[in-house]
Amino acid sequence: MKIAQFSSFGKPDEVIDCIDVNDLGDPNDNEVLIDVLACPINPADVLNIEGRYGVKAKLPARLGAECVGKVKKVGASVKGFKEGDIVLPLDRENWVQQKIVDEKNLILLPDDIDPIQLSMLKVNPATAYLMLKKYVKLQPGDWIIQDAANSAVGQYIIRLAKIEGIKTINIVRRKELANELKEIGADFVILDTPNMASEVKELTNDSDIKLAIDAVGGDIILRIGDCLAEEATILNYGLLSGKNIEMTSYQTVFKRLVLTGFWLMPWLQKMERQEIFEMYNHLASLIASQKLHVPIEKTYPLEEIKKAVKHAATYNRSGKIIITPNG
Ligand SMILES: NC(=O)c1ccc[n+]([C@@H]2O[C@H](COP(=O)([O-])OP(=O)(O)OC[C@H]3O[C@@H](n4cnc5c(N)ncnc54)[C@H](OP(=O)(O)O)[C@@H]3O)[C@@H](O)[C@H]2O)c1
Repeated sequence: MKIAQFSSFGKPDEVIDCIDVNDLGDPNDNEVLIDVLACPINPADVLNIEGRYGVKAKLPARLGAECVGKVKKVGASVKGFKEGDIVLPLDRENWVQQKIVDEKNLILLPDDIDPIQLSMLKVNPATAYLMLKKYVKLQPGDWIIQDAANSAVGQYIIRLAKIEGIKTINIVRRKELANELKEIGADFVILDTPNMASEVKELTNDSDIKLAIDAVGGDIILRIGDCLAEEATILNYGLLSGKNIEMTSYQTVFKRLVLTGFWLMPWLQKMERQEIFEMYNHLASLIASQKLHVPIEKTYPLEEIKKAVKHAATYNRSGKIIITPNG
């Protein structure tokens, strides 16, 4: 079978390869053998290959933060899964044709949902959901502000916020994205400009904004901070600019803004299994009803992993890059 692997940290398309390894044997009693149907390339995967992720991989390393799979064979004592079931593995190393997973690391999913959309269920929808639910108590009619708003996470935030009646100010790098984002529920789409605070004040009728969600970092936080209410929370979950966050003393002392970070991995480690199951089934039902959906730019076979990671690392994409290891 084929897998994607990298043997040194570096430029993703230079260090990653698709290689042949021995086929997997039968699963043990408590294990499940799955065919991987689809897996997205996430910015976290790219950071991982570059050696800049929160956990450094042991080389040579397989990768792939997420996928969706179809059960091929179950171990003798597995009760919750059968051949043909559609499943979400909670572990990593998903850019492979087949994998064996302990049944406690699998979530059973409905079998009538587009596998390409489902392949992105584990990371980005859960990130958007938890960031909206777990940090600031938001009521219908409240405002939030976010940057990188056209990213997949940004689009899930727009859609989930809309469902809850929460209004969104969305910062993008390309103004031509405004209509597309408004169509999926964005209230306002703006550019990062020096007069962002006065623009936002006017758009929201001077409403308090208690939550900012940031994937960019760097000096944009100076301008976002000026849009926020006293004691508001800035939730940083990405490092797209590659720069450290900047804030003024006025923002930290007199406005008492709270800067904190979000990382999905520790959340999944500390949540109860039942809560994880309920969250993913809720999000899967929203994907099934197309209330959650992100555009796809291109799908690649695993053999073209070099081209796929190179494509994923380009900006101004119209959607995600997906690998379909079994065609
Ligand atoms: N902390 C966590 O647990 C967690 C979980 C999921 C995702 N993330 C992070 O969330 C972010 C978005 O992920 P995704 O999968 O949604 O991304 P994606 O769909 O691949 O989109 C990438 C986005 O990044 C924007 N971008 C790239 N460089 C930028 C820069 N220097 N300044 C501003 N914007 C920039 C792009 O804008 P253009 O379209 O204009 O190029 C695009 O909107 C990533 O940083 C990822 O690592 C974190």
